[in-house]
Amino acid sequence: MNKALRKAIIAGNWKMNKTRPEAKALLEAIKPLVANAENNVEVIACVPFTNLETAVNTTAGSNVKIGAENVHFEKSGAFTGEISADMLVEVGVEYVVIGHSERRQYFGETDETVNKRTKAALAAGLKPIVCVGELKWERECNITEEVIARQIKLDLYDVSAEDVKKTVIAYEPVWAIGTGLTATPDQAEEVCAFIRATLEKLYDKATADAVTIQYGGSMNAANCAELLAKPNIDGGLIGGASLKAEDFNTIVQAAVEG
Ligand code: 13P
Repeated sequence: MNKALRKAIIAGNWKMNKTRPEAKALLEAIKPLVANAENNVEVIACVPFTNLETAVNTTAGSNVKIGAENVHFEKSGAFTGEISADMLVEVGVEYVVIGHSERRQYFGETDETVNKRTKAALAAGLKPIVCVGELKWERECNITEEVIARQIKLDLYDVSAEDVKKTVIAYEPVWAIGTGLTATPDQAEEVCAFIRATLEKLYDKATADAVTIQYGGSMNAANCAELLAKPNIDGGLIGGASLKAEDFNTIVQAAVEG
């Protein structure tokens, strides 16, 4: 990554895992391991809604920040099962994952709703982690760049340059998520560089250079160093490996070095 321009961000996405006591135990284990990263790496755990309060309390006073895994775009009202940005802020949440491919695949999330959620999160003072990525079939058809450019343009539609600097983009090729198949460092760098070039076209170079772009998809203790050494990969969004304190810490330490 380009440390001169951006601070690395390593975020765990716990997905639908961990009860509250389990969440507390995992965060207690992570905290001392990653304490040395405070000045170099932003360390985040994105946890299920039911764990948020426990997670915020457990990490208070440490350098581990807490994120949610989704947010609704309306402020309040008849939206059964949804959680608003203000509710997350009130609990002490700082980040929120938006548009994860599992939300897009299983819960009908579209670029339009990702855009609305992103704007609602920013308006409430949350930092969105907006996920983009191509399907295996789209890569095979050689339209990865078209797919990514479309997602970036739609997901960030009407988001100001000031706000996009607070937004993290996570490049997560859908074929690499939970499959053990990782994009090669060169493949991941190619798309992350393309995302930055797209941001430069939409905004300007200074804005594009300020945006943190993560890679996600089977990032683990063994492959993280090579990925994080790439100039446009500023961190990781980590699923499976974020559920083990030692593995997650290995990735954080690779970002400290990277
Ligand atoms: P895995 O690291 O388990 O492949 O998940 C990646 C992911 O979806 C993070 O958001």
